[in-house]
Amino acid sequence: EVYRASTTAPVNIAVIKYWGKRDAKLNLPTNSSLSVTLSQSDLRTHTTASCSRSFTHDILILNGKEDDVSGHRTQSCFRELRALRKELEDSDSKLPTLSQQSLKIVSSNNFPTAAGLASSAAGFAALVRAIADLYQLPQSPAELSKIARQGSGSACRSLFGGYSAWAMGSAPDGSDSLAYEVAPQSYWPDMRACILVVSAEKKGVSSTSGMQLTVKTSTLFAERVRETVPARMRAMEQAIKEKDFETFAELTMRDSNSFHATCLDTYPPIFYMGDTSRAAVRAVEKINEAAGRTVAAYTFDAGPNAVVYYQEKDEALVAGQFKELLAETQGWETERGQRVQEGGK
Ligand code: DP6
Repeated sequence: EVYRASTTAPVNIAVIKYWGKRDAKLNLPTNSSLSVTLSQSDLRTHTTASCSRSFTHDILILNGKEDDVSGHRTQSCFRELRALRKELEDSDSKLPTLSQQSLKIVSSNNFPTAAGLASSAAGFAALVRAIADLYQLPQSPAELSKIARQGSGSACRSLFGGYSAWAMGSAPDGSDSLAYEVAPQSYWPDMRACILVVSAEKKGVSSTSGMQLTVKTSTLFAERVRETVPARMRAMEQAIKEKDFETFAELTMRDSNSFHATCLDTYPPIFYMGDTSRAAVRAVEKINEAAGRTVAAYTFDAGPNAVVYYQEKDEALVAGQFKELLAETQGWETERGQRVQEGGK
């Protein structure tokens, strides 16, 4: 007999960035972070988890290719989910002992892997959700986010749709380092995201090793973590509650700049943004200048691609302008965001 469950998880793009670990093994961060979920159908990871007595070992198939399951991130997720299933089985002897069986995970993305589009976030969120569904676990998304966090930090935020935050927590065992929903997608239905794909190639420095080096060598970083981010987290939650786009946009752009400044302050420096990324920054500035108010906000993760947030009512001012302003810039390809859908996990 084969037991099976399928699910999808959305990509999330942080507007207050996670950058730095205080515990690399448990993936405990040095600051809280906040993200917006991109719930377009082409920006999700689809995952099927199955288990059977006839499977001989755990196996992970990622975009059609067998992947390593022995890494500590995947192992931590498997171990914790099996332990929760075991608890259920111990309390009800009629349940099949799925916790004893090998797992088969089949996962695929519809967007470039490792292009700075946070594929690990959607990937681990979908993996955890799929196994939790397979095991029929009663745990809440917030509880499950602690497991996804151990797969990849940013993955904990993809257990929720819409606006979601990751509270850094303070417990050494990570029990209070989890994601929570700030607002559902439907709360601010006018919000849109547009991705400017500069390069779908694998990034140079992985976020994991990049942030470790920043923590070790950057002097700017200490101020970011102690002063800048805590104040911004509060302001950002407020801006979302008030649907105040201008404040949301300014905080988003400032936090992206601050994160990339700490990358530049890392020794040796890390460059994620390139000339084309900087052209996108200028383009957004021009768009805002021409509109006479802030109608667009850029943000960049650990790669050169820009994500631009705007409101649907300003779509003509933003998305249309990009084609014109970037016409001379080679290498740009716009992926227009579709209508942001309600809910979704
Ligand atoms: C720049 O979550 O990929 O996208 O925890 O080591 O897997 P690990 O790192 P990861 O880092 C994401 C960094 C970021 C900012 C963010 O998503 O908050």
